[in-house]
Amino acid sequence: MSNEKTITLRINGKAAQATVPAHRTLLEALRGLGHVEVKCGCEKGDCGACAVLIDGTAVDSCLTLAWMAEGREITTVVGLGSGEAMHPLQQAFSDLGAAQCGYCIPGMIIAADSMLRQTPDPTEEEIRIGLSGNLCRCTGYVKIFDAVGEAAAVMRDGGETK
Ligand code: FES
Ligand code: FES
Repeated sequence: MSNEKTITLRINGKAAQATVPAHRTLLEALRGLGHVEVKCGCEKGDCGACAVLIDGTAVDSCLTLAWMAEGREITTVVGLGSGEAMHPLQQAFSDLGAAQCGYCIPGMIIAADSMLRQTPDPTEEEIRIGLSGNLCRCTGYVKIFDAVGEAAAVMRDGGETK
């Protein structure tokens, strides 16, 4: 007997259906639905590249089974903003040149957004702790932390958030 089940995921405000076996991770399901902005790194919870928001809190989608996210609000980095309507975090990362290869950046921005929802005026230490589950092998982190601090200031001043 097949253990596949058709589930409905709500991703960036839109419903999408996926037929998945019980062991399919949310990371695999999202990428299978074309959400390749969710990056696949270690697949064991070490790197944070696969982070998405579920109901506003960052989770590693590689450690989350797809069916567990049914009925919850999933937000990827694209759902925060893009193009001409960038989220303050995206704008700050762009302005400060906080990305090199860029592979870690979707997860960094998701983790930063989750942290700023809890701590809108973070110290540098709090930013470092908030992003401690996200690895970057290119930048040395300094510009990333600066970008998060700058975005936090913009958001406190009324910059648009979702
Ligand atoms: S791919 Fe999920 S934490 Fe690395
Ligand atoms: S910019 Fe390359 S891994 Fe972070």
